[in-house]
Amino acid sequence: MPDMDNFKEASAFGVGTPQETVGFPLKGCGSLDWGMKSRLARIFDPKDGRSLMLACDHGFIMGPTGGVERIDLSIVPLLSHADCLMCTRGVLRALIPATSRIPVCLRSDAGTSVLTELNDNVVIDPEDAIRLNASAMAVMVAVGDANFEGKTVANLYHTVDIGQRYGIPVMGVTAVGKQMTRDARYFRLATRICAENGANIVKTYYTEGFETVVAACPVPIVIAGGKKIPERDALELAYKAINDGAAGVDMGRNVFQSEHPAAMIQAVRAVIHDGLKPDQAYQLYQDLSK
Ligand code: R5P
Repeated sequence: MPDMDNFKEASAFGVGTPQETVGFPLKGCGSLDWGMKSRLARIFDPKDGRSLMLACDHGFIMGPTGGVERIDLSIVPLLSHADCLMCTRGVLRALIPATSRIPVCLRSDAGTSVLTELNDNVVIDPEDAIRLNASAMAVMVAVGDANFEGKTVANLYHTVDIGQRYGIPVMGVTAVGKQMTRDARYFRLATRICAENGANIVKTYYTEGFETVVAACPVPIVIAGGKKIPERDALELAYKAINDGAAGVDMGRNVFQSEHPAAMIQAVRAVIHDGLKPDQAYQLYQDLSK
């Protein structure tokens, strides 16, 4: 019990100053619970509602692909430039210092690899996401995959049930099968299905007409970078996505496979948070690469 003597007399009631009702900077997230919003605000900077997520979960289907052979050497030095790290629980426990303080979007499904048939995934025990202090859980959804569409949508809504119970946002990751056309019509469908099934964030790919994908998706979208392309092109991709309404990027190969990953992540960051145009960002990349 606090000491009851010498209490300061209550007087700071701020009469005349209405209590502010603070909004939330992410679309579709205004009525989420406090824990959910708090975790989202770790990932997306509340100042602009945007995020630079660094993805390095590629090994769970591809093994030690170029750039993530030694995550301790390639990814850990970049963490201070990212708003969030997307990785698997194996990498998190083995290689990411718990002292880094970076919010984690935990890859929360796993299954088949590039050696067999992709997308036959199950979800991890959500208790592990809680143990790992995950700020979000990412689950892949294979819309249009005749074999695994139903299973992966079920993975998503199951994860959303758990996320709602414990206040952990879920990111739906749209997997695009080789047979799917990567156009705005497909991405509108895939992202909307993720959101309708409860995803709080959707990760997808940039395409022509991307602004219609963003408009039709009621929650924030981040884009994957996709396969490695020249740095100037990757910066333009990030710029166009942001300009068309994306809330950020979840970029992997175009950062960690760059000739100068530290320069590249800072240039991408400048596009996302400082509004740099592609040429300005590329100039920054070149300057930082010296
Ligand atoms: C998505 O499911 C993958 O696991 C990667 O996280 C994603 O593709 C982002 O990485 P990248 O920018 O290399 O495409």
